Amino acid sequence: MSDQSMAPDTASLCDPIHGGVAQPITHDSAHKHVAGAAFYVDDLPEPQDMLHLYAAQSPHAHARITSMNLDAVRQASGVVAVITAADIPGHNQIGAVFKDEPLLADGEVFYNGHPVFVVAAKSIEQARAAAALAKIDYEVLPAILGIKDAHEAQSYLEPPQSMGRGDVKTALNRAPHRLSGHLSVNGQDHFYLEGQVSLAIPGEDGDVHVYSSTQHPSELQHLVAEVLGVASHSVTVEVRRMGGGFGGKESQAAIFAALAAVAAKRTGRAAKFRLDRDDDMIITGKRHEAEIAYDVSFDTDGRIDGIRFEQFIKCGYAADLSLAVSDRAMFHADNAYYLPNVEIKSFRCRTNTVSNTAFRGFGGPQGVIGIERVMDAIALHLGLDALQVRKANLYGGPGRDVTPYHQQVTDNVIPEIIGALEKETDYAKRRAAVKAFNAAHRWQKKGLALTPVKFGISFTTKHLNQAGALVHVYSDGSVHLNHGGTEMGQGLMVKVAQVVAEEFQIDVDRVKVTATHTGKVPNTSATAASSGSDLNGMAAQAAARTIKERLVDFIAESRGLPKDQIRFQSNKVFIGNDFVTFDDLVHEAYLARISLSSTGFYKTPDIHYDRDSHTGRPFYYFAYGAALSEVVIDVLTGESRVLAVDILHDVGRSLNPAVDLGQIEGGFIQGMGWLTTEELVSDAEGRLRTHAPSTYKIPVASDRPDAFNITLFSNTNREATIHRSKAVGEPPFMLAVSVHSALLDAVASLGDGTQLPPLDAPATPEAILRAVEAVTAQNERGDG
Ligand code: MTE
Ligand code: MOS
Repeated sequence: MSDQSMAPDTASLCDPIHGGVAQPITHDSAHKHVAGAAFYVDDLPEPQDMLHLYAAQSPHAHARITSMNLDAVRQASGVVAVITAADIPGHNQIGAVFKDEPLLADGEVFYNGHPVFVVAAKSIEQARAAAALAKIDYEVLPAILGIKDAHEAQSYLEPPQSMGRGDVKTALNRAPHRLSGHLSVNGQDHFYLEGQVSLAIPGEDGDVHVYSSTQHPSELQHLVAEVLGVASHSVTVEVRRMGGGFGGKESQAAIFAALAAVAAKRTGRAAKFRLDRDDDMIITGKRHEAEIAYDVSFDTDGRIDGIRFEQFIKCGYAADLSLAVSDRAMFHADNAYYLPNVEIKSFRCRTNTVSNTAFRGFGGPQGVIGIERVMDAIALHLGLDALQVRKANLYGGPGRDVTPYHQQVTDNVIPEIIGALEKETDYAKRRAAVKAFNAAHRWQKKGLALTPVKFGISFTTKHLNQAGALVHVYSDGSVHLNHGGTEMGQGLMVKVAQVVAEEFQIDVDRVKVTATHTGKVPNTSATAASSGSDLNGMAAQAAARTIKERLVDFIAESRGLPKDQIRFQSNKVFIGNDFVTFDDLVHEAYLARISLSSTGFYKTPDIHYDRDSHTGRPFYYFAYGAALSEVVIDVLTGESRVLAVDILHDVGRSLNPAVDLGQIEGGFIQGMGWLTTEELVSDAEGRLRTHAPSTYKIPVASDRPDAFNITLFSNTNREATIHRSKAVGEPPFMLAVSVHSALLDAVASLGDGTQLPPLDAPATPEAILRAVEAVTAQNERGDG
């Protein structure tokens, strides 16, 4: 006992711990990010004789390699090794799900930029200069570059998929109103601040240790092992943090890790593969571009009866994660709306372009923007306020609560969220003010839109919904925390540390956040699908609980007291009327030979999905939110600005409100970039022409709305998630659809109120101007 003379229940003794669950504490690395003290892969001290890698890229979208002479490359100054497909010791395969993705081109190139060979040299400048000396002859083959060409050629990754319910055909024909239309949605580059990078260090017995900026250390480990032709136990992957991942480092980090590992193994020297921005943008996949066609019928209130969607998804040359991404686009074609008779068809187009991959929302955003366009189209057609149409279609009680994949929506809070946001923002007044502004201004037009989000949480591939953790309590009472999740800026580490601090009732600074390491926690899933804290928080809690139970057993036995008289609180353990500090108790337990280390494991319960019929309960629960965006456009230039945004978002019982607010704000702004300024442009040869910030514009601080109010919706998760919280990483991204919808509203104000402007995404100034011109031309013809 530390001080038996003190009464245990005085207030100061029971001060809450610092950094427990629900406290808005700062990100564990925030100060390090700002001070430049946070280690990224490129900040690690470079091993002696380390080599730098550069990948030579194909200049054609589709071609056969007829001859390849790399003699000059090999002889160039500083070059230590040149690696081609033939030099790969194991499999030349990097496809995570399907084996359709060669690591290096093997006789054929499938996209413009496809890595053909890799140079390992003493400096990156030497590697790059040497690569230019290659003499390669290509026989150019026909290339499929776009969705339309792929669809015409029936170039698909798998047969078209269909999901649905009810009798769509009858419903489309019987309703009083029917509309059809389509929307093109461009892709998006991840533009993480830290590009793709891996450092491979050879060890004894041919082992390799890889430091990588990856969201998926376990998959990287397994793929590197396959490429090297060794067992997984010969490869260790370590990730302290990424400078952003956003899905772009879920599968595609493996390419660079594997090539670095091959070079390290081949030369016996450490090898680093760090892409510069242009190469990163050219070589790595992006958000899937999509074409969405709809055919919808509805009543005079705008309430949908039947709807058919066709989603054409541009997957690129290999599968990567495209099937799951396309599935998620189907899962979110309903967004927050009940669709009584619905069919969603999905075409997974294979093109001779970079293989597209995960990106925040994982197909969800493409699904959501489709149905939100339908809401706007219906509203314009009927001359109703779009919010009224949205509200008429929301999921509701029994009879209106089943999704197109037959999952019942049991936790719906969308009507409450929209109602609260509408009231809080004084929507009717805002609408009237926008109308008045537009009447008074000829060259500037404002637009307003309030759109909801319902996002399904869980990996739709069931086995991925598992996680492991490892917790050590050292004999001084300090804690080492490890789990399978990775940190990419989203605040996963601090949240899981808070969970462990809460469990032991110790200050969070007693819990050390450590690098993700395949030697500590094996066979993990990617940190993705927003499920990082749901899964790893639970696993870490389980590990901590195991240790805590051992401590309780130990005290109960040594003091001869019942277990219910033992309580962990405020960095102490209260034992009947006494207490001991946590640290002292731990030391005592150590001397008594109690094990102070444990693993923890978690798997999400109650989820199942049959991919053949596209039915089941793929999601453990849904995260909800809504945003009201107000924009202004310049009718003469097409320029736009987001003036004000109000968000009400459901994170359940927040593990860390500060981090969650940051995720909502960041997700929204990233979504806004996708829908307004970020434009991927490729030329007729399939070469990406926008591969640097000079030509590809992501939002900057000055693009942040002048008024930006974010509120957490007070809610607890109905499901038994970690402290009843909800995932937050991706759902807010789709709140930005309100910006696109508001821009449409602004353009539509130029018409007679019923014309749907042909505004695709992104709504760049050019796109807005085109839509403005289309609407005004229609006015002049008088056929609005
Ligand atoms: N936030 C930051 N700062 N950086 C990121 O790379 N990735 C997003 C989101 N928020 C990302 C981010 C994506 S795509 C996902 S899936 C989740 O974080 C992953 O982390 P989580 O599961 O811990 O939320
Ligand atoms: Mo996020 S797209 O699931 O990595």
